[in-house]
Amino acid sequence: MAESAAGRPPTGPTPRSPAPAAPTPANRTSGTPPSATPPPATPTGPGLLKRLVLRHYRRFAPALDIAGEAYAAAVVGYEAFDRHNADVQDALSAELSRVLAARSTFELWRLGKRFEADFARYCGRRAAIGTASGTAALQIALVAAGVGPGDEVITSAHTFLATLLAIRNTGARPVLVDPDPGDLCVRPEAVRRAITTRTRAIVPVHMHGHVADVAPLLALGLPVIEDCAQAHGATRDGQRVPIGPTGCFSFFASKPLGGAGNGGAIVTDDEGLAERAERARDPEGSDPIVLRAARTPSYIDPLEAAVLTARLPKLASWRAARAANAAAYRAAFAELAPVLPAAGVESAWYSFVVRIDDRDAVKRRVLLGGVETKIEYATPVHLSPTFADEGWRHGDFPVAEAAAARGLSLPLHPFLTTAERDRVITAVRRALRR
Ligand SMILES: Cc1ncc(COP(=O)(O)O)c(C=O)c1O
Repeated sequence: MAESAAGRPPTGPTPRSPAPAAPTPANRTSGTPPSATPPPATPTGPGLLKRLVLRHYRRFAPALDIAGEAYAAAVVGYEAFDRHNADVQDALSAELSRVLAARSTFELWRLGKRFEADFARYCGRRAAIGTASGTAALQIALVAAGVGPGDEVITSAHTFLATLLAIRNTGARPVLVDPDPGDLCVRPEAVRRAITTRTRAIVPVHMHGHVADVAPLLALGLPVIEDCAQAHGATRDGQRVPIGPTGCFSFFASKPLGGAGNGGAIVTDDEGLAERAERARDPEGSDPIVLRAARTPSYIDPLEAAVLTARLPKLASWRAARAANAAAYRAAFAELAPVLPAAGVESAWYSFVVRIDDRDAVKRRVLLGGVETKIEYATPVHLSPTFADEGWRHGDFPVAEAAAARGLSLPLHPFLTTAERDRVITAVRRALRR
């Protein structure tokens, strides 16, 4: 806003001035257009109004922007599912036709299996077990790892509440640790300190597509089930997630690899866990371990598998485009303490989060500037009413609380044009200057 007020004329609608007098035979023959009439010596009426608007442009700018420049073009959206589909249109049509042409349960099942094999190969793992959602993948993997009632599972206080729901659905209790303020992923030392005799597993979360430091967690001797819901294709020191033997993915539409709706997968090198996971998602499973758990049959939908099969070959180029957007934002917004991956991490860049004290007001002003942003986690999980019975209090996890209070995510999807990305940068800068 300040830029407009100081450097160039306001670009909102010009204040209304009286319509020029319609040409009449009298003024047409006079040769003097009505607008050329000399102004009165003391400016009053519309002239004064125009000067007032100019003087107070800063105050009026958001309203002017709504009607003018910013909304003349479409708002830059946070997501663009349609552009993902357009990028894979032919493959998508072919894969969807295969599902619709299937004659039997076996043929549908085989299509799901094909995607599972493709995704396991992509992750460099022995097996992938498709599920209805990322939440189901986590729950089933935890059950397969032997987690059940009375156990504790350590995870991050900065996550989507589905991570905690999956733990609680096994009958276990989530134990939270505050994340590192830099990348908002768990710190191994904090996890180590939270271990008790009841700890049965650890769930590090690769938040925002950054990769948590998993290697020291694997050395603790407990099952580690990585929450890779936001981190498809991300690497740490050259190793693609999951870093350890087992990780769980979400294929919700917004994810770096998303389907048309919901889906998920467990990816693992642990053959025993893979077998138990297969049994845990089977409604007729009678394994004593899986019988301990409340469970829901959960398979990947063949239509989702078809969409994912069409999109998987594009994941590398989409990830590179997200990384390029992130690099531009990083250069533009270094002073906003962006949430950045640790050294050695190639993030999946699920989100680019900046930290702003008056975040909610800035978000509103950015929208008035024609750009949609997102507050991903307005309430930290430990303060969510869903988990009120856990007894967590305000102040228990200050890093997670600050992230929820100050985090604002900018549009990062792979199909942002350079012009759209520049509009995001300009809109945020203007919103910050007011
Ligand atoms: C960190 C994290 N964990 C788990 C999930 C759950 O995945 P889904 O929505 O597919 O159940 C999500 C999804 O948003 C997530 O972001």
